[in-house]
Amino acid sequence: MSLVRHKLNPELLENGIAAVKKGRPVALVLSRPRDLIHEVCQKLLLSDQQLRRMMVAMEKSMEKGLDRETASTAAVRMLPSYVCAVPNGTERGGFLALDLGGTNFRVLLIRLKEKEAEMTGKIFRVPENIMRGTGEALFDHIADCMAKFMQEHDLKDAQKLPLGFTFSFPCAQEGLTKGKLINWTKGFNASGVEGADVVTLLREACQRRRDIDIDVVALLNDTVGTLMACAFVENSCQIGVIVGTGTNACYMERFDRISKISDYVDEEGLVPEEMIINTEWGAFGDDGAMDFIRTEWDDVVDRQSINPGKQVFEKMISGMYMGEITRVVLEDLARQKLLFGGNFEAISRPHCFPTKYVSEIENELLEDEDRTFQKTFQILEDIGIETVSSNDCVNVAYVCSLGFRAAHLTAAGIAVLLNRMGKPFVTVGLDGSVYRFHPTYPKLLDEKIEQLVNKGLQYQLMLSEDGSGRGAALVAAVATRLKLEKLVAKLAASH
Ligand code: BGC
Repeated sequence: MSLVRHKLNPELLENGIAAVKKGRPVALVLSRPRDLIHEVCQKLLLSDQQLRRMMVAMEKSMEKGLDRETASTAAVRMLPSYVCAVPNGTERGGFLALDLGGTNFRVLLIRLKEKEAEMTGKIFRVPENIMRGTGEALFDHIADCMAKFMQEHDLKDAQKLPLGFTFSFPCAQEGLTKGKLINWTKGFNASGVEGADVVTLLREACQRRRDIDIDVVALLNDTVGTLMACAFVENSCQIGVIVGTGTNACYMERFDRISKISDYVDEEGLVPEEMIINTEWGAFGDDGAMDFIRTEWDDVVDRQSINPGKQVFEKMISGMYMGEITRVVLEDLARQKLLFGGNFEAISRPHCFPTKYVSEIENELLEDEDRTFQKTFQILEDIGIETVSSNDCVNVAYVCSLGFRAAHLTAAGIAVLLNRMGKPFVTVGLDGSVYRFHPTYPKLLDEKIEQLVNKGLQYQLMLSEDGSGRGAALVAAVATRLKLEKLVAKLAASH
């Protein structure tokens, strides 16, 4: 295979790269197709006006999800978590945590000490045939991994540890330990789970094997775990966001605004002041509310997915789709003869351009002082594209940099929550592979929130250190602490 490497105009190249570094992607292309590529990709550049229009639509959708009358048809489901308090720092003890939400499943043993969480854990793969097989096989696999972990850590005979189960899919919870899966996302499709209580499925799988005994005290979404893990170290954390394989956010909502559960009272008969709401914002746009921003490329990615028409916002943002959108744009440009000399066959293979390539190519743009584009050449060569020119590399880097649309859409979502809460200072806990590993995403996100948030409101972004695991232990710990406090109060009252 022959790679054609043209000399680049260094001045133009540096100007373009400087713009990308500042988070202002411009057409970096240096030859004739420049304007054309710029024009074709224009629709991926969202103006603040479009983002603000989206924010209005998102808040409307959220209100629909909270309202008793309209909740059942809302695209953004706004699911109550039944978590009404964040950690107060006094939580102590040992907990088990299970974390299912992507291609991996984790079992963790967590010891909470003063402001610290000591963790030991093991990661197990969830093979694709299990992700898309039967629900029974999936939960048997989970129980099997747990049993292995408990044996390795000599926990089988130990006193039953309270367990927090982070299950990162939309669940209609009826309490802290009960939740029915509404629908699978992120490539999962195990049969017989949608509509079922996942805690019961977990307990039944453990009972089938008879060698492990569990005490599930909390079921939670990964966003809730992220919020709780950050709140453990920074009390002002009131929003949790994940931008990884999927995307979602949760936040502390005033209870009087959650009319769909207005008759809820806790075990003491008290009405909570606030409750964490799992927004499930990944489904925003499933009712067409994002159509004014979506492109034909988003449409292609959606149609090829296993859940067409679902998780519209997630498909424009998260790691599971970012590489694929980029690939679809590159394929389109190649078909229009604006890239790779019109050679489009290799880039037409679905999923041949994983999200990590987007990060790697952007990284090279930022770090490779000599502009050799060695990595980018290598990636394009690996995909099987022949006759790649240096110009193509610059253009591919430009298309990759348009992934900043994802950061701007997430920023708009976070700004909706900050503005809605209207609290003077809020910490936003964030986690997920895109937030962690994409080179420009965190900066672009921060800058855009700043522009979209109402005047007078302050916020800070905080990387959550393993929120899904730590958070599960913390929700379990808060539940256990509250239970104990109530028991003590009851005892005191009876004396
Ligand atoms: C799920 C959410 C989850 C998010 C991040 C989405 O696909 O629906 O429940 O929080 O992914 O993992």
